[in-house]
Parts: sequence; C-alpha cells; structure tokens
Amino acid sequence: MTTPLPALPDTLPAEPLTLLGEWLEAGRTHSTAPDPWVMSLATIDADGRPSARMVLCRLYERESGVIAFYTNRESRKGLALAAHPVAAAVFHWADLERQVRVEGPVTESSAEESDAYFARRQRLSQLAAWASDQSRPLASRAEFERRLAEVTERFADVESIPRPPHWGGYRIAADHVELWTQLAGRTHDRAVWTRTGEGWSGTRQHP
Ligand SMILES: Cc1cc2nc3c(=O)[nH]c(=O)nc-3n(C[C@H](O)[C@H](O)[C@H](O)COP(=O)(O)O)c2cc1C
Repeated sequence: MTTPLPALPDTLPAEPLTLLGEWLEAGRTHSTAPDPWVMSLATIDADGRPSARMVLCRLYERESGVIAFYTNRESRKGLALAAHPVAAAVFHWADLERQVRVEGPVTESSAEESDAYFARRQRLSQLAAWASDQSRPLASRAEFERRLAEVTERFADVESIPRPPHWGGYRIAADHVELWTQLAGRTHDRAVWTRTGEGWSGTRQHP
C-alpha cells in the first residue's frame, strides 16, 4: 500500500508543531480507525518502573504544542504523573502508515477545562467516573455494578452531574516530537525535533 498522504518534506520545517497538527488532523479525517486519536501513554511509576496504556487524546493546541487527555488522578497513571510529571505518547495509524511520538513535561488541566470536558461526556461515562476507583482492586464485577447503581441513584435527580474531584485532564507540553512514515522494505522516513530553550532543533534520523 502506498501512503495516501504527503511524505515528510525534504527540507524539514524549523518547528514541528504545525506539521504535528496537520498529521493529527489527517489522522482524524483520513484514518478508518475507530478512535483515530487514541494514543499509547507511557509514564514512570514512583519506583522508576515504566507503564503504558491507551488513552484518548482530547486536545491539541498548536501554539503551545500541548496534547491533553483525561483520567482518574488516583489511577496508576495519575500516581505516576504525581511522582514523575513527564510522559511519552505514541499515535499509530496503520492505514495511513504513519506514527507520531510526543514527549514532554506534564501539568494538570485547569478545573475549568476539566469541568468543561466532563460536562460533554455521556451520562454513563460521568457515572462510571464516580463509581470507579480506577486501577485499585475490585472484589468482583458485581461490586462495580453495585457502586454504579448507587451513584446512578444518588444523581437520579441531578441534571448536570458534577466532575468528581479525583478526575481531570493532563497536558503534555511537547518538547520532543517524532513524525514517521512507513516505506517499503523498512526504508521508513523519520524526523525528530527537540525543543531547545525558546526554539526547536530538528533532524532526520536513520529509520
Ligand atoms: C481505546 C482505548 C481508549 C482509552 N481511553 C482512556 C482514557 O481516555 N482515559 C482513561 O483513563 N482510560 C482510558 N482507557 C483505559 C486505559 O487504557 C487504562 O485501562 C486505564 O486508564 C487504567 O490505566 P492505569 O491503571 O495505568 O492508570 C482506554 C482504553 C482503550 C483501549
């Protein structure tokens, strides 16, 4: 299969954030993946052990180079980010033959931003956020169903379910970006940019 989208330019742009935005947008509009903005998120636990899981990227800000996702702040990833506020994310669109890597320091999204996103979620997702002690032991599936029924009852007369205090967004401020295209016979093309003070330094790398 040939790449249906533009290859990496011969002359790399000085900064990657515009191209990163174009690639994320192409993922959203051209990929047939059910969740084209799903990314693998890697964090470092308090004891230095890496862990990775899929999360949904919900925001890209071209000006700042920030990508954001939402989760339970008391989950394994939340505790890891409290210990080491830095993360690496990987997007892969198999049908577009493209991979994107973004790394950088992480900060919590504001309460306003987290509230606004929580308010847009389906009601069941909102209830599940209240019912779930994400990443902690659960005696049985029935126990979770019981907790879900409990919060459903608790919020039965509430039109706008508030955001749980333990739930919110995280913002990864890209300081390392890699754009990669798949080419025949492992002759892939790959460009990497690293933030240097106020600017960026970019280079092609061997595939
Ligand atoms: C396609 C997909 C999307 C997901 N999106 C999210 C997400 O946006 N936020 C989240 O907390 N978990 C999401 N999950 C679940 C996580 O992969 C993970 O199981 C959960 O967050 C607990 O991870 P942790 O114990 O490492 O904190 C998603 C899973 C899949 C497969």
